[in-house]
Amino acid sequence: MARIRVLVTRRWPAEVERALAERFDVVLNENDKPMSQAALAEAMGAFDVLCPTVSDRIDAGVIAGARETGVKLIANYGVGFDHIAIEDARARGIAVTNTPGVLTDATADLALTLILMAARRAGEGERELRAGGWSGWRPTHLIGSALKDKVLGLVGFGRIGRATARRARHGFGMRIAYYARHAAADDVARELDAEFCPDLADLLARSDFVSLHIPGGAETENLIDAQAISAMKRGSYLINTARGGIVDYQALAEALSSRQLAGAGLDVYPQEPQIPASLLALENVVLLPHLGSANAETRIAMGMRAAANIEAFAAGRNLPDRVA
Ligand code: DGY
Repeated sequence: MARIRVLVTRRWPAEVERALAERFDVVLNENDKPMSQAALAEAMGAFDVLCPTVSDRIDAGVIAGARETGVKLIANYGVGFDHIAIEDARARGIAVTNTPGVLTDATADLALTLILMAARRAGEGERELRAGGWSGWRPTHLIGSALKDKVLGLVGFGRIGRATARRARHGFGMRIAYYARHAAADDVARELDAEFCPDLADLLARSDFVSLHIPGGAETENLIDAQAISAMKRGSYLINTARGGIVDYQALAEALSSRQLAGAGLDVYPQEPQIPASLLALENVVLLPHLGSANAETRIAMGMRAAANIEAFAAGRNLPDRVA
């Protein structure tokens, strides 16, 4: 029987690439440069499985490249899939899978990294020191904010939101509030002493730190717009490890610049790898290059999870992580 033809659009951890190559007819994007829309569309017609990442835009035009004998499974490397035109894939009978669960801890760790960096002005301190501007210890130098007893308001209370809450509550003594469609199960809320806030503006107004944990896409585009930002407590912080499009970064830059917000910590941007110039100009924002899942164990687990979906597809079994 012919082996399944798989195209991997970016380099994956070596052990995952080896595991894929043992089982399938794999083509790697050796130079790891993002593929053009035309090349992706062509690949849709030439392979059985496409393995994209968040850096690929799998839009309607790309999906239209799939012909009768082309891609039947898009096995995404990552949990978020707002870069894939899900409805177009569905209309053509192309299945889409993601890699949930395996990057929960890594992303929650990074949310805490950003909370701590923003609260303790770590980026500012490092920049000052490296530029030779540190004149020595003094009681009034780079004063930040404590975390204990501060309210962490989570927008979204799924796996990553709850893992972030767990760290903040049990590691740092923060108080937890969350906005979500539905209240969490009693045992979860009890473990985290978490208060359900059904109104977003209310959550924003009462939180000292707001951390976003919702999917990107049309439904959440600009959810944190100028009005929402103005509803945030004066002197609070915004943390975004979810998707850049959720926040109006121009409005955020203005709020940071006027000190309405004390700081922000961002890992994601609407047009990566471009970073809005208005943010780059500010000291009170920590800017990371989409590192949420970037530890070795997690990146391997993500690849193995994608491989498990391809394996199931090859065997004609139900896909474990099917999203379309
Ligand atoms: C995810 O898994 O969605 C991360 O943002 C990387 O793609």
